[in-house]
Amino acid sequence: MGVIASLAYPRSDFDVSTDLYARLNSVPPGEKVGAVARAALDRLGPSAECPLYLAALNGALLEEPPPFDTDEYAKIYHAASKDPQWMAISLITNAEREGDGAKRLWSLGACSSDREEQQLLKRHAVDESRHALAYLALLDLSFPGTVSPAFRQELNALSPGYAMHQALVAVAGSPYAKPPSVDDFLQMNIAEIRTAIHHLMQRQALAEHCSPENRSQARMIQQSLLRDELYHVAYTAALIERKAQSAARNEVPALFSKRFRDFNLITTEELGEKIFDCNVACCAKRPSCRAKAAPAPPADA
Ligand SMILES: [Fe+2]
Ligand SMILES: [Fe+2]
Repeated sequence: MGVIASLAYPRSDFDVSTDLYARLNSVPPGEKVGAVARAALDRLGPSAECPLYLAALNGALLEEPPPFDTDEYAKIYHAASKDPQWMAISLITNAEREGDGAKRLWSLGACSSDREEQQLLKRHAVDESRHALAYLALLDLSFPGTVSPAFRQELNALSPGYAMHQALVAVAGSPYAKPPSVDDFLQMNIAEIRTAIHHLMQRQALAEHCSPENRSQARMIQQSLLRDELYHVAYTAALIERKAQSAARNEVPALFSKRFRDFNLITTEELGEKIFDCNVACCAKRPSCRAKAAPAPPADA
């Protein structure tokens, strides 16, 4: 069975045990990005070795080590997350970002001419749409009554409410209404790995805010978030591997390094403002921010 076939849904065998969370959490800073990528691919089984992807990732990490995989980053997050108001806003920002990501994926999926790729992007969009609500559920469980009932009701609109039975349609005017490229999947892969690392930090931080009676429900939501994010890392890696097989030898490694460089710059800027998940308005300000729609530069750029 090929890597892409092994991505088929339902994915009940894509298991994420509590043990995996503890294992990833104990990986030292500087090694988490690689550990997350390997853990995600491991869940797909032995067919998902993705040697071209892993070689390109390792090369990019050496050239452009990400600030979101450092001790300093974790310490700044940990200090900020002690403030309940900061933490509550961060959950709302996460919900906004997931909902926005879902819409981008829905457009990309609608424009893909590859049936498998289309289904994977559709499932990804449905996951992110659900995640917007999951972060709001974590807000309810960890900080009950923090926002007014009317505002809380409005927040539900952050999720576009996608479901698999709906037909994919490109969102009118979206820069993502275009066929997805390897560049899109590289940027998604980096973003998903960063989300998984944020997840590890957030899970630890939320445990300090959530009341004991709500903790097990919050944990169940977090477990399914981690499973989905690792799945997003895995399927984008598998698509990158497939595209790398037919690309020029240095194209994917060079582009991976370039996109890490972009991501690292944004992360460093955000860190100065204690932003860990920039919001939609913030992305709109920066042409380079989450520039999935930007044309791919030449491989040697
Ligand atoms: Fe997500
Ligand atoms: Fe994701």
